[in-house]
Amino acid sequence: MASSVVLARSRLPHHIGIIMDGNGRWAQRKNQLRTQGHLEGLKTAKRIVKAASDLGIRYLTLYVFSTENWKRTAEEVGFIMGLVKQHLKGELDFYRENRIRIRHTGDPKGLPPDIARELAEAAEDTRSFEGLQVILALNYGGRDAIVRAAQRLFASVEQQEKITEEGIRHYLDNPDIPDPDLIIRTAGEHRTSNFLLWEGAYAEYYFSDILWPDWTEADLVSAIAAYQQRERRFGGGKP
Ligand code: IPE
Ligand code: IPE
Ligand code: MG
Repeated sequence: MASSVVLARSRLPHHIGIIMDGNGRWAQRKNQLRTQGHLEGLKTAKRIVKAASDLGIRYLTLYVFSTENWKRTAEEVGFIMGLVKQHLKGELDFYRENRIRIRHTGDPKGLPPDIARELAEAAEDTRSFEGLQVILALNYGGRDAIVRAAQRLFASVEQQEKITEEGIRHYLDNPDIPDPDLIIRTAGEHRTSNFLLWEGAYAEYYFSDILWPDWTEADLVSAIAAYQQRERRFGGGKP
């Protein structure tokens, strides 16, 4: 890995979330179609998954497609869904070789049935792998995730006192996964765009101006190095 930054192995973030942004701008700058940017973005995603796995990160949540991204043209949406399907079908060997487990967060009911099926199959096929867990946020919205958790919780309790923070957490899509320590957003935007609203309450944010298709392993190392310089307080005041 071409980087001179030395990371403290004992203080790696357990869970990193990435808002992979800038595919469209990358393509436009090259006078190419936005879809070309998504194709390059997928290559970057694979590169960063491998880098996170090699670094020993435990969980990586990738924001692939938001509940708001359906507003894009049918052509762009169809292209992204096609890429996801192709990737899930074609890259099982990559996940197997690296012992990487695939999971999903988001509403599977709003996805095209074939994509929901591929996701479920990839999750099942990689279920026993004990390496990095990659959580694909697909048809994901932070607000939608909280609403769906609340619906499950309300269906299970009669007394209002049982509606607690722990209760909501328990009914999120993947309650066993710890909160993200570090959330990265690429391409110069400084907003969450509905990503991990509940789980990211105390995440450290890292913003990069680099467009996602240009992101490299060294950029991931720089983000983690910046995270390791932060002082996390969780509301407890200065130690
Ligand atoms: C991120 O890149 C990928 C998705 C949101 C699916 P964009 O497509 O948002 O790229 P920009 O922000 O238009 O450059
Ligand atoms: C957020 O990016 C969603 C994903 C990266 C999948 P967007 O490009 O959709 O966010 P906005 O529209 O700039 O806020
Ligand atoms: Mg964008």
